[in-house]
Amino acid sequence: MQLLKDRIRKDGKIKSGDVLKVDSFLNHQMDIKLFVEVGKEFKRRFADCEVNKILTIEASGIGIACIVAQYFDVPVVFAKKSKTKNIAGDVYTTQVESYTHGRTYDVLVSKEFIGSGDKVLLIDDFLANGKALEGLAAIVKDSGAELVGAGIVIEKGFQPGGDRLRAEGVKVESLAIVESMDETTGTICFRGDR
Ligand code: G4P
Ligand code: NA
Ligand code: NA
Repeated sequence: MQLLKDRIRKDGKIKSGDVLKVDSFLNHQMDIKLFVEVGKEFKRRFADCEVNKILTIEASGIGIACIVAQYFDVPVVFAKKSKTKNIAGDVYTTQVESYTHGRTYDVLVSKEFIGSGDKVLLIDDFLANGKALEGLAAIVKDSGAELVGAGIVIEKGFQPGGDRLRAEGVKVESLAIVESMDETTGTICFRGDR
């Protein structure tokens, strides 16, 4: 998605450790006009797919998922991150090991909101090592729902998450795939660019 790539090149900040900061339009301040274009693009890419629910994970996936959901005309469910082990009630739960944050947390979704017969599209802002997205996919599988695919705003193509999920047969659509970043020159290369 050219508009997004241009915006990443213009406003993205490359930090040490291969971190791409996009706080001015995605992760802190949110550019809703851009989100609207992202929503239309996901709708186009999943046009042939039946979707009745969007699933994301708190916190930074929620904003984008809500705008995207308008184009699918479906509700959004966000998985909750829990630091405590004592999970009460009827929930699907899985463990996510965050390499970035150096900790493991439980992710949970109430059984009330996802189940067999649902056709679920995963939406998230970033895909890096993919542990969070794999956790969501595991919850969908657990619930008996169908996993339609995953729509990602920015994928770090040099980290293994996206390609691993594709190899597992998940339809992963990322609107910008960063292939490499150079902190010193500020250069960003996207997959598909020459
Ligand atoms: P991980 O297994 O290495 O933890 O990678 P994963 O793909 O699950 O991403 C972990 C978290 O780090 C996610 O946020 C993801 O959005 C964020 N992230 C990874 N790389 C980058 C990056 O280069 N730039 C930015 N801006 N974010 C990145 P999270 O843990 O779910 O937290 P939240 O922000 O949603 O609360
Ligand atoms: Na994030
Ligand atoms: Na996220």
